[in-house]
Amino acid sequence: MTTTPVGIHDLSFATTHYALDHAVLAERLGVDRDKFYLGIGQEKMSVAAADEDIVTIAAAAAAPILERHGTDNIRTVLLATETGVDQSKAAALYLHSLVGLPNAARVVELKQACYGGTAGLQFAAGLIARDPAQRVLVIAADIAKYELDSPGEPTQGAAAVAMLISADPAILRLDTPSGLYSADIMDFWRPNYRTAAIVDGKTSVNAYQKAAQEAWSDYRRQGGRDLSEFAAFCYHQPFTKMAYKAHRHLLESQGHSVDAARIAAAIDDTTTYNRTVGNSYTASLYLGLASLLDHADDLTGKALAMISYGSGSVAEFFGATVQPGYREHLRTEANRAAIESRELLDYDRYRELHEAVSPTDGRYHATAEQTGRPFRLSAVSGHKRIYEAR
Ligand code: HMG
Repeated sequence: MTTTPVGIHDLSFATTHYALDHAVLAERLGVDRDKFYLGIGQEKMSVAAADEDIVTIAAAAAAPILERHGTDNIRTVLLATETGVDQSKAAALYLHSLVGLPNAARVVELKQACYGGTAGLQFAAGLIARDPAQRVLVIAADIAKYELDSPGEPTQGAAAVAMLISADPAILRLDTPSGLYSADIMDFWRPNYRTAAIVDGKTSVNAYQKAAQEAWSDYRRQGGRDLSEFAAFCYHQPFTKMAYKAHRHLLESQGHSVDAARIAAAIDDTTTYNRTVGNSYTASLYLGLASLLDHADDLTGKALAMISYGSGSVAEFFGATVQPGYREHLRTEANRAAIESRELLDYDRYRELHEAVSPTDGRYHATAEQTGRPFRLSAVSGHKRIYEAR
């Protein structure tokens, strides 16, 4: 039986207007900046402006894809997030008016911590296998927020990645099988009444490593490739050091020799963007993929390992194959520009943004005009969020 190749036809990334350098945070917390720069592998983190949320960054990621490819045959839009703006209405419905999604489409929000984007990708692949003429827009968008002065604070960040999933993809073919692992644990969660996540940091790091190893074992049981067949390993990156830790753990668990050069060769190119964007939850793995494709030497025909983890927890290990001519379809300049154009915050402005609370009284509240990005939250009125495209 021949099956239609399905995968990522286009990938576009957006982040927030502001960023905070970890040196500023280190000074405030009275710790050596190398604890962040080297210890967790983070130099900066994106911070949302008062008039940004996951809808504005998701729109900014999706718009270039729709400009390039139009909306024909996009019959499904899946937006994965754990920073939703509404308990009922899917965040992607707000994109209709902002970026012009088609009406003849199913539009849904997905949630399972940082794993949601991968769920979207796999659900999209299933829909396209059923009808290869259809295309699916998958968007992963999140703003990671922990309490001020908590151990999680240096691992915040924000980004959105939009991906057009289609048959005969131009960039990356998704391969089968997938290795899966899920377990009910409390390593990281956010009750409905909280804006910042609760996390048991050390438990979460161990849970991530165990889940990645279990997903790998299932992948092998399903007949997947050998570890030596992958040119690079794209891990979910809550902080970039986590990818190195998880890969070392995986290699050791399989009895492979572990040396720093081998791990660096497998991971380094996947971390360039995440190191300066921070944790973007659902988007993080796909930002790692964008970083790899933008920075590695020619990967044509090479197999990549994709390792997704979402606390709570679900993990998936799957392979993907880089397509001939993929470089012509990358958005390397735009990706770099999105990162380099961020405005750096001082500590007081960062704290003010962190402590701001959304109005809940139903009256009209204009939002401070801060972001220079193409979409903004202009007001909250009558319990409705009002967005504008510039
Ligand atoms: P911590 O206690 O502040 O940091 O928490 P630490 O004391 O463990 O230090 C971190 C590293 O810096 C250590 O290295 C230190 O040795 C090193 P390691 O032993 O781990 O290799 N260090 C230094 N290095 C160089 N120079 C120095 C120096 N000082 C110390 N001067 C922790 C760190 C990550 C736990 C914390 O930031 C946290 O709780 N973060 C949030 C949770 C998290 O990111 N968990 C990751 C796995 S779970 C996940 O990925 C899912 C998630 O994305 C959510 C979702 O699914 O939605 C979080």
